[in-house]
Amino acid sequence: QWAEAVLARDVCLASPRSFCAGVERAIEIVERALQMNGAPVYVRRQIVHNTHVVSRLERLGAVFVEELDEVPRGSVAVLAAHGVAPSVRRQASERELQVIDATCPLVAKVHHEVQRYASRGNTIFLIGHAEHEEVVGTRGEAPDHVVVVDNPEEAALVEAPDPEHVSYVMQTTLAVSEAERSAAVLRARYPLLSGPRHEDICYATSNRQQAVAEVAAQCDLVLVVGSGNSSNSRRLVEVAQAAGATAHLVDDVGAVDLAWLARTRRVGVTAGASAPAHLVEELLQSLSALGDLTVAESPVTQEDVRFSLPREVS
Ligand code: F3S
Repeated sequence: QWAEAVLARDVCLASPRSFCAGVERAIEIVERALQMNGAPVYVRRQIVHNTHVVSRLERLGAVFVEELDEVPRGSVAVLAAHGVAPSVRRQASERELQVIDATCPLVAKVHHEVQRYASRGNTIFLIGHAEHEEVVGTRGEAPDHVVVVDNPEEAALVEAPDPEHVSYVMQTTLAVSEAERSAAVLRARYPLLSGPRHEDICYATSNRQQAVAEVAAQCDLVLVVGSGNSSNSRRLVEVAQAAGATAHLVDDVGAVDLAWLARTRRVGVTAGASAPAHLVEELLQSLSALGDLTVAESPVTQEDVRFSLPREVS
């Protein structure tokens, strides 16, 4: 495998890739909370869905828990970027925790939409994956009103008690084209369906998908750096495959199988919004050890989004 993998290669780097503004903010919140309060700082669930980010913050003194009942009363607790249901906030105040909310502002926007539609008595179709933490949190805003719709097939079946009072929202990290198909089915079935003024799928998700689609169209193989539980990273694999490339999700360079690289001259590389940029650098260094590497990058857009920090850490 080693001998077959040694080749001169062209690498097409998808751009944008790697951290989005919501992930950068969430990580900075934990770092600052540790600086200001000392260790330990408790974090409910993975702050962002990436094993490397979580391990690094653990080394700095963050303690990751599944639920807030594992956190000692009165401690500092950070809520992860994916957002939480109101019941989690109630639990935090019952335990007198000093909460710092790292929910991405673009996820919080979807929560507000659900609150607004629910206050009108609407049924809300939430296009997304029922098990994903973001969807669990968003649904928790109005569990009696929200119906989760996973895909266009489900969109063709879901029912609302009053077809004149129906709305939809979306998980922020879906595959744009499939989510749009689900929304189109709902619109066709419910002509009075109201939706978000600005798309719920976030800028970072859309940009990374567009970038990987362009790269995949020119490459035989696409490597997506990201963790297995990262929704937006998994969608990048699907988008690359839909564009005709073979694609694999790798947590880091150690997960790359040399057999994938045998006789592959053009390799696309990207990283999900929760994957650190240094993992891409390490991947490129390892590829360069397998033969001359030419790296090309043509960004589909420039990103300049920044979110402000919550007052507890600013
Ligand atoms: Fe926020 Fe989108 Fe990143 S919702 S956390 S900016 S992937």
